[in-house]
Amino acid sequence: MSMLDRYGRQINNMRISVTQQCNLDCFYCHHEGEDGHFIGNGHMKPEEIGKIAEIASKVGIEKLKITGGEPLLRRDIIDIVGRTAKHMKEVSMTTNGVLLSEYADELRKAGLNRVNISFDAPEPNTFQRITKSDVFDDVRDGVCAAQNAGLTPVKLNMVVLKGINDHHIPQAIEFASKVGAILQLIEFESSCEGANSSFFKRYHFDLCEMEEELNNRACEVRQRNMQRRKKYILPSENNGTAEVEIVRGMHNSKFCENCTRLRVTSTGELKPCLLINDNHINIIDSIRNGAEDEELMNMFKKAILLKEPYWRA
Ligand code: 5AD
Repeated sequence: MSMLDRYGRQINNMRISVTQQCNLDCFYCHHEGEDGHFIGNGHMKPEEIGKIAEIASKVGIEKLKITGGEPLLRRDIIDIVGRTAKHMKEVSMTTNGVLLSEYADELRKAGLNRVNISFDAPEPNTFQRITKSDVFDDVRDGVCAAQNAGLTPVKLNMVVLKGINDHHIPQAIEFASKVGAILQLIEFESSCEGANSSFFKRYHFDLCEMEEELNNRACEVRQRNMQRRKKYILPSENNGTAEVEIVRGMHNSKFCENCTRLRVTSTGELKPCLLINDNHINIIDSIRNGAEDEELMNMFKKAILLKEPYWRA
């Protein structure tokens, strides 16, 4: 049974960053709410990450997402997947896909269930403009490798940026549908303070109208429990269907009200919310000092009870 937080949310999933390093440099990246602190020396070992998954499972967390930076930059990533998968009902990974064709089969064998791949444009030029790297072909190969390895459903993450890739949405839907992936259209996200910056205002693209349009076109609309995200099933070419999910967090109290996620930073701190940085709980030092499971479980419980919805009505 998952634990309830103070707002009645069942905390059943965890997102753990295994490195802050990345081989791309996407200009909009929020770095999972980490600030580059401890780069190079703060990594957790596979055994430590496995221990965190074990304790998480004991407080009712059933699903894990491995993220970075770029998780595939860790040479021991297969070991990390193996050590976490045995405690979880589902382990997924968010990756930029550059190295995925090399790793897909091994990841699947180690117990990874599925992947989310950052895919901000369906063509090389815009892709390069956003990621600052000429890697579109590698990522596209990675998407296919993930499909072939059965890391499914493959989800493609597209952060929609005004004037950069917003005009590519129809083409991205078509691409995803063709390769049998789900497209996630993600609103450019920032903290309250960041949202006032000229940088944010320049690129922020409100997905509200897009949601309406999808709603009109969809043959079916589903709502996920997680953050009450909506998923639209659209008719596509050749009698097929396309699946599009909207991730719209900004100023969205419904999204936060239904957030059931706990995070772990790459440096080993429990992190109740992406956008809040002053309520972390350092669990890695306790693990390194040989704390008993019960003490570690209490740290999890404490972190869960510190969860606060960021955007509120
Ligand atoms: N806003 C929204 N999504 C973001 N991501 C990274 N930075 C941002 C941001 N500022 C998402 C991307 C990427 C995943 C790791 O995090 O979808 O695929």
